[in-house]
Amino acid sequence: MSTDWPALRAAATAAAGRAYAPYSGLRVGAAGLTDDGRIIVGSNVENASFGLTLCAECGLVSALHGAGPQDGSTQSAALVAVAVVAGDGDPLLPCGRCRQLLLEAGGGSLLVDTADGPVELKVLLPAAFTATDLAERRE
Ligand code: THU
Repeated sequence: MSTDWPALRAAATAAAGRAYAPYSGLRVGAAGLTDDGRIIVGSNVENASFGLTLCAECGLVSALHGAGPQDGSTQSAALVAVAVVAGDGDPLLPCGRCRQLLLEAGGGSLLVDTADGPVELKVLLPAAFTATDLAERRE
């Protein structure tokens, strides 16, 4: 599936405009294209208790699962492309925690928008801990 990056970035920019970021002043929007062709978005949500802040990508992944599967599938769609932007509409690289979250929602081949073009998530998060490690190492 090809990605309409300008459309994905525009959806992320619109989501950034809906962010709740009164403490940092950094509005962030994230938009993800699913493998069944949907665009799902999230915005950052801050809190007076700063540590409770939710990144835009957290909202996106939550919305992905909240939307549920389409067309009788039993599991949520996977992400194939993601654009994360600040309020100015330019790409913002996901923080480390969000790279880990996105990995489980899209895998290492998930394409992430950057100022220099799309980059695979496995490049941004090499040698990642995954569910495989958990399955193989638990006692
Ligand atoms: N933020 C995100 O939404 N995503 C990221 O990947 C990096 C940081 C938000 C969290 C907080 O509301 C603001 O940016 C400043 O850190």
